Amino acid sequence: MSVVPQTSESVALRFPTDFVWGAATASFQVEGSTTVDGRVESIWDEFCRRPGAVANGDTGEPGADHYRRYEQDVELMSSLGLGAYRFSVAWPRLANLGFYDRLVDCLLERGISPWATLYHWDLPQELEEKGGWANRDTACRFAEYVSTVVSRLGDRVDGWLTLNEPWCSAFLGYGNGVHAPGVQDPKAAVAAVHHLLLAHGLAMSEIRSKAPNIPAGITLNLFPVSPATGSAADADAARRIDGLQNRIFLDPVMRGEYAVDVLTDMAPFGLPDLIRDGDLKVISAPIDHLGVNYYRAYLVSAGDPVDGPTEWPGSSDVRFLQSGHPKTEMDWEVQPEGLTELLVSLSREYPGLPLYVTENGAAYPDVLEDGTVRDTDRIAFLDGHLRASHAALEQGADLRGYFCWTLLDNLEWAWGYAKRFGLVHVDFETQKRTLKDSALWYAGVVERNGLSES
Ligand code: FCB
Repeated sequence: MSVVPQTSESVALRFPTDFVWGAATASFQVEGSTTVDGRVESIWDEFCRRPGAVANGDTGEPGADHYRRYEQDVELMSSLGLGAYRFSVAWPRLANLGFYDRLVDCLLERGISPWATLYHWDLPQELEEKGGWANRDTACRFAEYVSTVVSRLGDRVDGWLTLNEPWCSAFLGYGNGVHAPGVQDPKAAVAAVHHLLLAHGLAMSEIRSKAPNIPAGITLNLFPVSPATGSAADADAARRIDGLQNRIFLDPVMRGEYAVDVLTDMAPFGLPDLIRDGDLKVISAPIDHLGVNYYRAYLVSAGDPVDGPTEWPGSSDVRFLQSGHPKTEMDWEVQPEGLTELLVSLSREYPGLPLYVTENGAAYPDVLEDGTVRDTDRIAFLDGHLRASHAALEQGADLRGYFCWTLLDNLEWAWGYAKRFGLVHVDFETQKRTLKDSALWYAGVVERNGLSES
């Protein structure tokens, strides 16, 4: 049954007829059930046990109990009229993929397109003990895992994504250590970048052989980066961050090379020595779509070096500035115009490559009162970013779909359960789901395939 409110609003900004409207989640953030059906430990289970690593000592239990309540959740998606659901497959569940079988079938029964991400950060702990992503062999192990998953789910999935945000896996996992596995070693972070890219390329080849007709690609978290002033020092700071945030992934995947400046900047951390003959050919295997996760833009300047580990190796002298926009509960500035800029520039740079916004959303301090959450701030955030997406379409971006982050309130990694990004409120004690006002608003957008005049 649809929950879309009836409205007489006229649709001023219409999206293309076959535009994909969805919502996204990730296995460790929502599933719970971390010790059942043969699931092995992941680096996040281990990380959550470390005192002080995750806010409030939160862990993957209970998550949003999606592993057991997926039918109810698919029913919710259906009531919102969603056309697609982007979930991730947990590598630690390799021994028993039955859950994903059931989830995919349930989605298909409801006419919802399954989109699967093959890696959203939950590396099996046993592989971390052999060096994790800093170990080249992990890329080969990933390819084996992908082969099994794709053989099993094959063409019942409508879109494959190899990796989610390898920048976070590498630079937060092994650079500043705020994500699992909590390593602080810039050389390991740079090794992880190359091995994640290799894992992506090897996975593409497995997908091509097991599900040749299903579109596949990768999801990156990309940020427009601007210098604070026209000074040469600020321009260089922006060049470096753009290199380490965006180009270090885009160039190998799309062009089969690392940019010369990135190779030079990363030489002290061993990047050139990691690249073996043939790697870049594997990494640049053609993709069918690029997933873009967008949350905000960066404004940077040169400054004094900071002590302690930073995410971006060799960039401890870069300052990240505020540009005066309102902020979400994550302290992230709300900058919808950056999404237009990003999508348009990607389409200019890589013509013919379909783009999907695979994540975009916001945490706000939601209050559940009288059975509702009046999250007008989240509605304004989503509305602004959808207008920005529409503007990108008008300027020629080849944008094919939008997945809201996220369907359900969940474990926001090191921030724990306190940061709520969901369209659907979850009471983590009772697991009761309540549609927020933003869910009803989003359902209206999906139903109308567009936005009204602002
Ligand atoms: C992205 C992650 C996603 C979620 C959002 C808020 O970086 O891919 O899992 O945590 O941020």
